[in-house]
Amino acid sequence: MIVVASYVLHRHRALWRAPGSFDPNRFLGDARNSIDRFAYLPFGVGPRICIGAAFAIQEASIVIAMIMRHFTLEMAPGSSPWPVLKVTLRPKGGLPMIVRRR
Ligand code: HEM
Repeated sequence: MIVVASYVLHRHRALWRAPGSFDPNRFLGDARNSIDRFAYLPFGVGPRICIGAAFAIQEASIVIAMIMRHFTLEMAPGSSPWPVLKVTLRPKGGLPMIVRRR
């Protein structure tokens, strides 16, 4: 059996500039074209690729847009995210945030 560790793949120095940084801009506009087809596989690849990928992206886009339209989110003072792998990746201790109505 071959297991591709997406955590490693998505943070590999040979594939990403500043691999440890959260930088959504790397997926915007022309920057997206420079990403190798097999460098970013959040939904897997091949015959067992996630069947819910399109739904998940659409759902996340709608939910995030609705939240951001009404609120601003800011990390709570003194807190910083730390990754924990439990089947899926999640922040240790959650994400304490300050939520303000716009
Ligand atoms: C952000 C959300 C999601 C992520 C990151 C995700 C990720 C994945 C990954 C990595 C796989 C394994 C692919 C592989 O074996 O190569 C998978 C499989 C699968 N996902 Fe998702 N998924 C998400 C949402 C969903 C949703 C919303 C559904 C259903 C509505 C879904 C249904 C499935 C199913 C049924 C499989 C198994 C496909 C198979 O083995 O043939 N997923 N998903």
